[in-house]
Amino acid sequence: MISKRAFVAVLFTAVALLLTPALAPLSAQEPQIPPTNPPAHPPAEPPAGAANGPQPGPAAKPASPGPTQQGAAPGAQTRRNAIGDFLATGPPPDPEAVARGEKLFVTNCAFCHGSNARGGATGPDLVRSVLVLHDEGTGKTIGPVILNGRPDKGMPKFSFTDAQIKDVAAFLRSRNQAAANRMDYKILDINTGDPKAGEAYFTAHCAKCHSPSGDLAHIASKYDAPSLQNKFLYPIEHRYPGMPGPPPDPRAEKTVTVTLPSGESVSGKLDHLDDFSVSLSDASGEYHSWNIDGASGPRIEVHDPLKAHEELLKQYTDADMHNILAYLETLK
Ligand code: HEC
Ligand code: HEC
Repeated sequence: MISKRAFVAVLFTAVALLLTPALAPLSAQEPQIPPTNPPAHPPAEPPAGAANGPQPGPAAKPASPGPTQQGAAPGAQTRRNAIGDFLATGPPPDPEAVARGEKLFVTNCAFCHGSNARGGATGPDLVRSVLVLHDEGTGKTIGPVILNGRPDKGMPKFSFTDAQIKDVAAFLRSRNQAAANRMDYKILDINTGDPKAGEAYFTAHCAKCHSPSGDLAHIASKYDAPSLQNKFLYPIEHRYPGMPGPPPDPRAEKTVTVTLPSGESVSGKLDHLDDFSVSLSDASGEYHSWNIDGASGPRIEVHDPLKAHEELLKQYTDADMHNILAYLETLK
């Protein structure tokens, strides 16, 4: 969902662009929305315990990033183009490319930038990024950032092909357009799949956990198509401890069974697991913690209810994705 705050921020920025005569050229080198607190750790490391401390999430970001760079004033034409960019009013990107790009984004970038590209604990909001707006879905300004990363700022580099970069650019463009004009987003019509085929896929792969008349009843009335697609691609965003946001759905919580050398075993909600210790709260709410010391340590089995989603994500073809979405869209 587009938050009201973010939408207002986009509007505000658009107005600021209209009113600022000395509009800086929207250069790839000078992003005008400074990201807050880039992470100190590489992406390969999953959020490990509370060591990170509370990190400001998107809520802590400046709400109104007006242009700050007093560069050479470009001509009116450039300015009008910039405003066009900002409102993302161009033609919508190819829906197939958007779908492929979304998949790439969700697997590679969502960890830091959020699965909606709206920013996460360790990566800035890309929907509001001037650099991304300026890219216009071409990959020209985004490409170098993806390929080179900004290692000193916490953005790793990726070896993407040109085609992959274009797809990610198309996806980000679609998010820009969604943010710029929620009404117009409908024209993207990402809902091009076959609902019957989607239903068959659902019965084979999803029905053991979900029911169209149970937990997913009316799901299409709850979310618009892009959000719905995001939801089944990646239901829960990676969160860091202390990051603001709604608590995770209890059905998505990880559980763990710890079997001690004595044979005794305790199960419960996973609280913390690293190389040295594991802790959980059992059904009665009691907290347990063990040190993991080498070979004699306890046996640990983690159950992640969302593992299935991650596995499925690797298997979907583009057609599957469209078909599933088309089917879910029938669950009004
Ligand atoms: C480990 C976290 C992390 C991952 C993973 C990551 N990024 Fe980033 N990204 C960042 C950070 C931090 C910045 C801000 C860097 C800076 O301060 O200049 C950034 C900046 C960017 C920018 C520039 C935004 C601007 O306005 O300057 C783009 C575009 C971008 N990332 C795209 C991507 C894409 C596409 C992927 C996936 C292929 C990705 N990122 C994966 C952390 C990450
Ligand atoms: C092994 C169990 C499992 C399988 C298989 C599975 N899911 Fe999920 N799914 C979950 C859990 C757990 C959640 C998170 C809790 C929640 O939001 O309902 C979830 C969340 C979702 C959501 C978000 C629901 C909401 O209200 O926000 C959608 C949509 C979804 N799954 C669709 C699918 C589709 C489509 C498939 C098959 C392609 C699938 N799931 C396969 C377990 C599963």
